[in-house]
Amino acid sequence: MSRKTEVLFVCLGNICRSPGAEAVFQSMVEKEGLSSVISCDSAGIIGVHEGGPADSRMQKHANLRGYNLLSIARKFNPLTDFDRFDFIIGMDEDNVSDLQRTTRSSADSAKIFLMTDFCSSDKYIGVPDPYYGGSSGFELVLDLLEDGCENLLEHIKREI
Ligand code: 4NP
Repeated sequence: MSRKTEVLFVCLGNICRSPGAEAVFQSMVEKEGLSSVISCDSAGIIGVHEGGPADSRMQKHANLRGYNLLSIARKFNPLTDFDRFDFIIGMDEDNVSDLQRTTRSSADSAKIFLMTDFCSSDKYIGVPDPYYGGSSGFELVLDLLEDGCENLLEHIKREI
């Protein structure tokens, strides 16, 4: 592959799980010196938080693990995002089915994956939405993202 591999993480609001995934994955890409060949972004199924920062609870828990959440929320755009990205990773099954509904072709469809399909354990099908819960939910999100992103990166490295 000559051009960069681009990964888009998608959740419902783009303020908790997908900006977390973006920060975790970006950190791994930088640590491995792969920033010139792999890049990532995140987006939400809904646009209600568009233009705003990540949820302060997600930022706090991510900071404790050394990640800086800098991304600004935006809504997934099927008209541009399917063309730009190689991997479009939904955080849960609802995100994946919402994404699948917006596809224009089987090529678009083949770019969509479920985050936990890259996790080492099959205990969780989907990264649970932490928005209405407490601290433990945010820690679980980060545990699943660190596991899944590590395997996703290995998968991409085998392809490039
Ligand atoms: P996220 O969490 O999808 O992980 O960003 C949520 C954020 C906001 C809402 C739901 C989930 N909301 O309904 O506003």
